[in-house]
Amino acid sequence: RQKLLPKDPSLPPVVFHLIPWFGSAATYGMDPYKFLFDCREKYGDLFTFVLLGRKMTVALGPKGNNLILGGRLNQVSAEEAYTHLTTPVFGEGVVYDCPNDMLMQQKRMVKFGLSTENLRAYVGMITDETLGFMSKELKVNNQWQGFDALDAMSELTILTASRTLQGKEVRAGLDKTFAQRYEHLDGGFTPINFMFPKLPLPSYRRRDKAQKAMSEFYQGIIRKRREGTHDHEYDMISALQSSSYKDGTPLSDRDIAHMMIALLMAGQHTSSATSSWTLLHLAERPDVWNELYQEQKEKFGNPDGTFRDLTYEDLKELKVLDYVIRETLRLHAPIHSIMRKVISDIPVPNSLSSPKQSENSSYVIPKGHFVLASPGVAQMDPLIWQNAEEWNPHRWNDESGVAAMAAEQYTEGDKVDYGYGSVSKGTESPYQPFGAGRHRCIGESFAYVQLQTILATLCRNVELKLQGPFPSPNYQTMIVLPLKGQTKIMYKLRA
Ligand code: HEM
Repeated sequence: RQKLLPKDPSLPPVVFHLIPWFGSAATYGMDPYKFLFDCREKYGDLFTFVLLGRKMTVALGPKGNNLILGGRLNQVSAEEAYTHLTTPVFGEGVVYDCPNDMLMQQKRMVKFGLSTENLRAYVGMITDETLGFMSKELKVNNQWQGFDALDAMSELTILTASRTLQGKEVRAGLDKTFAQRYEHLDGGFTPINFMFPKLPLPSYRRRDKAQKAMSEFYQGIIRKRREGTHDHEYDMISALQSSSYKDGTPLSDRDIAHMMIALLMAGQHTSSATSSWTLLHLAERPDVWNELYQEQKEKFGNPDGTFRDLTYEDLKELKVLDYVIRETLRLHAPIHSIMRKVISDIPVPNSLSSPKQSENSSYVIPKGHFVLASPGVAQMDPLIWQNAEEWNPHRWNDESGVAAMAAEQYTEGDKVDYGYGSVSKGTESPYQPFGAGRHRCIGESFAYVQLQTILATLCRNVELKLQGPFPSPNYQTMIVLPLKGQTKIMYKLRA
């Protein structure tokens, strides 16, 4: 129980480490959740660790999430934490390469593109793509066969996102060139790029070339659309082309192109990781897969054994499916660490201090540190959730009382207008897979429609079983994916 106290007692305790600059990089990098839970045991909910020369102050639990995700604009900055990673991939002028107020306006424009009218149109398109994928790629028949859940879900995610959000030109251009450019951009979106923004490596050059090519590809689509006469499109390019900043300035073609790249990157791994984890859990639990099937049969089954086509409204009826996705996101939040740079000293409220810190509860997180929130820690905290490690979708049934317990204990807070619509502040909650506060995800409604439609369509048609043990998480990527090589699922056509 060695505790290396900082010289200044107002600073949070520092996690013991042997090598000065390297700090806790290895233990944090290998298994961030184990590292964070272990540190909480030793130091309480607030502590600082060294990560390759950076001082990372962690604040855990719902109150820690509140401190960081609800942090004031003059205290914490997302752009200073992320821009060196994201700008070379998304391109200039958008997201973290512009003042926060502009990002908030860009998020409002994206929200406009995710209207109920558009989401309603997407359900049929996603169903079509899933059925096509099942017959062309999976070649489903009544023999058991195997597929790699991660590969299959990555492909189906890009097919469905391009058919809907990204638009028909992107769907039609989903060829080898697009796939390679995407791969090169993705290769520039790794923890190495985050820690070392400028390295003379071939992957950095490939990333920059791919960014330029992608940007031109999208700008070409936008130009053609402007010149031609087009039917109404339900996609994001169309929504962004008709949007403008609050002073009336429309988005430039370059900004639209870069926002489209940002949305592609923001949605691809988060959604494909979630659908992969969900399918893996369901393949391990045929009883729950069967429950999902019975739920659909009850609600939308025809007397002859067929189903009527899914609609946006139907998805809301599928309660068990909702619990399944919610529970998967509880255990497998795709983003394990959310970071901000501290731009002015943050006094830590006494209420955050855990009993272990009670002798000195007036901590300050100084300017120059980074702060790290990990909603996943609260989501898996045995002090909050019964049998926290168990994947149990039914904990979300109101009657089970577990979710109700959590909700009662932590109120959702006031509504706040961050400029892209009024959102529940919700920064002090034990369940935040989509983040909270001004940087909260705006893709949630799209991600849910995509996940629900893919899973419901698969469930109507195939039986599943898991091949081998349940996979471990891989923390070497920006998004927590199941470990490659452990993700095989067997499937066959439903009898
Ligand atoms: C922000 C999670 C899907 C677009 C975030 C954040 C989280 C998150 C945790 C907050 C990051 C932070 O505070 O630094 C997820 C999960 C998804 C998902 C779990 C799927 C299961 C999507 C999709 C899109 C999207 C499909 C686009 C269509 C965004 C954007 C932000 C964001 C634009 C805002 C970034 C900011 O304001 O700084 N997401 N996301 N996400 N996400 Fe998602």
